[in-house]
Amino acid sequence: MRLVSTHSLQSGEKIGKPITNDQGQILVQEGVNLTTRMINRLKILNITFIYIEDEESEGIEPTSTLHDQTKTEAIQDIKQAFGSLGEESSLSKSFILDRLGRNFKKTVKNILMDVRESDETISLLSDTIGHDRYTFYHSLNVAIYSIAMARELKFSEEEQLTVGVGALLHDIGKTEISSKILQKADKLTPEEMTEVKKHPEIGFDILRKCFELSTVSAHCAFQHHERIDGNGYPRGIKGNDIHPYAKIIAIADVFGAVTSNRVYSKAILPHEGMELMFAGAGTQFDLKMIQAFRKTVAIYPVGLTVILNDGRKALVVQQHKLNSERPVVRIIEENNEKVSRPYYVDLNKQLTVTIVDTETTLSAKEKKLVNRFYF
Ligand SMILES: [Fe+2]
Repeated sequence: MRLVSTHSLQSGEKIGKPITNDQGQILVQEGVNLTTRMINRLKILNITFIYIEDEESEGIEPTSTLHDQTKTEAIQDIKQAFGSLGEESSLSKSFILDRLGRNFKKTVKNILMDVRESDETISLLSDTIGHDRYTFYHSLNVAIYSIAMARELKFSEEEQLTVGVGALLHDIGKTEISSKILQKADKLTPEEMTEVKKHPEIGFDILRKCFELSTVSAHCAFQHHERIDGNGYPRGIKGNDIHPYAKIIAIADVFGAVTSNRVYSKAILPHEGMELMFAGAGTQFDLKMIQAFRKTVAIYPVGLTVILNDGRKALVVQQHKLNSERPVVRIIEENNEKVSRPYYVDLNKQLTVTIVDTETTLSAKEKKLVNRFYF
């Protein structure tokens, strides 16, 4: 399978992985040949990248970090938590969450086990889902990234669980922010911005009253928009005053946001997202944590078309755990010509060969629209 961006799809190309909605229902089955109408529909569904099947990419299979069941249960839990908190007072919200607390711990334990068992670095691109409830999927992705980072930083299992629960619920305060503001595609007004920036404190207020959850989880919600140089919100606290778990979640949150479609911005690819994270290393984010994070994420996901420093074109076939910048690739073009017999190069062994570009990316026009603001 090959990963392509929706804007470069051609009619007649064959879908490699089924595309589902947020109820898990299949919208487009694998093996279906795309029509122009379907391609337009995918764009409307806000899907940026999909997997297609073709001869050159035969046998390349992207893997998923989570088992389907873990994913479905986690999404249900998050939906229940966010959905049940509608118009309740913050005290009754804490009651509801207390009831859900046990589920969350179980779900996070399952995510933790899946992350531990997974042989590959994390790639969440293989889940092609069209959804309008960005927050649910984002919360799950932030939990996966945070657990993987905590693991890489040698946190104990108990600590990984607490980070995971904090990550899953970090944006729970958004349940009290108007969905009109959260779903707004245009730039927010200063008043709307002030409103959005209340969500960490609201989340803290809800979570700190949950007996079932650790107080640290509440602090994760409170501090996930703080930045180590003091330029974050709501309090503008700095460096070591920010809890390490909140620093982890901050990184997972921003990376998860920029690599997903949001109402106001298109997704960018993991290597582009990582560049953005490193630009903020040492000022916004903790450098050591970003370095640990880089080791856990598939910088070049399986199925991506890459250009090597000697001009050869290749498809990413397999990740190397802890060195995701140097995957195994299948060469498909050299000297600007298709190779008759594709062959493999392990970039982790041939150290003079590097990836210099990717073919799959947003169009220049779409890139201009990438909004780097997230909340
Ligand atoms: Fe947030």
